Amino acid sequence: DKDISKLDFKGQRVLMRADFNVPLSGNIIADDTRIRATIPTIQLLLEKGAILILCSHLGRPDPGKQTWEEMKAKASLAPVAAALKEILGEAFVGLAEDCIGAAVAAQIETLKPGQVLLLENTRFHKGDTKNDDAFAEALAKSTGAQVFIMDAFGVSHRNQASVTGITKFVPRSYPGPLVRKEVLCLANSIDVPKRPFVVVLGGAKVVDKLHIISILIDKADKLIIGGKMAFTFLAAKGVPVGDTEIEESHRVEEALQMERKAAALHKELYLPIDQVVATELEPGAQTKIVWTMDFGSGKPIISNGFHGGDIGPASQQLFADALADAGTIFWNGPLGKFEVPEFSKGTYAMAKAMAAATKRGAITIIGGGDSVSAVKAAGCTHEDFTHISTGGGASLELIEGNKMPGLRALTLGIS
Ligand code: 3PG
Repeated sequence: DKDISKLDFKGQRVLMRADFNVPLSGNIIADDTRIRATIPTIQLLLEKGAILILCSHLGRPDPGKQTWEEMKAKASLAPVAAALKEILGEAFVGLAEDCIGAAVAAQIETLKPGQVLLLENTRFHKGDTKNDDAFAEALAKSTGAQVFIMDAFGVSHRNQASVTGITKFVPRSYPGPLVRKEVLCLANSIDVPKRPFVVVLGGAKVVDKLHIISILIDKADKLIIGGKMAFTFLAAKGVPVGDTEIEESHRVEEALQMERKAAALHKELYLPIDQVVATELEPGAQTKIVWTMDFGSGKPIISNGFHGGDIGPASQQLFADALADAGTIFWNGPLGKFEVPEFSKGTYAMAKAMAAATKRGAITIIGGGDSVSAVKAAGCTHEDFTHISTGGGASLELIEGNKMPGLRALTLGIS
């Protein structure tokens, strides 16, 4: 049985992969949902007498280009260690200097059952993202782990050493309770969704999400696209986007194909019809609202020198109307640069529209670190949604029906 609540870990060294990739504003944690979500697992393992070693990545440091000091300045897990200390108190002994090596091994030797140590960012070594066996083995040897627990649902779609490769070098590997809960919740709601099934996509990781859209067009009844990604689609329609940066401009052709696919399958694809624009997307910016498409209204479209920062009020209404009859709604990625108050209204309106849908009985799921901090900033709570997932890309890939390497490694013991 893979259920760790039925197992004993007394005096055993347990290495647990968590997803502490929290949104940071400088050194301040903007949203601690991912940390809080791991606490029940940590407490369970401590009650069971484990010697607990936590590991995680944070951000996307580049050890090929950055020095150790540069990586540490931007992506150290120190803020997470401070948060863990506050929650766990005495049981938490601190943050190790690294995640592998003799010094880490020596520090782990001193740990007693019921104590927790956090290792420094696994992505400070390029072997992590490359799923390099030598790095995975070093992680297993330095920690002396007898058991590996994968409780980082947010990275279960990644084939990386601290997620999958590690299972080859630790005698026993199990999924953690958070991973089990997430998979069950998402599978139950999305496998056979209550229809109409509406997917709302936004955010900035355009490259990661474009291919997913094609599959979502098959699965969902309606697809709402906002955030940065919308501009790739607007550009594909020949709409001028002013100075709004389009990541991956060569994907415009792909976006066009997806629009055609949606039309051929009679699926509705919603794009923003107006935008809040400014010359700079910074606090205090002078904003104005413009139509993104010229409907013969004579109103201006986004002109040169302006960037789109948020969906406008007409798009808010259009999107809310599209949700009105939804049976299931899945939302990943903010619809604008919501961290800046001037560009937060569209994302907040979506949070409120989803909360209203929950009240009338729809199944509502939020996925992703940024979306979760956005719904909280909008004044919504966990009770306003059916499920708030700790995984962004991971929840999308699960819905897409992809093989999740991080889950597969646990069942087969290989990566
Ligand atoms: C996430 O934030 O979705 C996960 O922590 C994965 O991060 P990654 O996209 O950098 O692998």
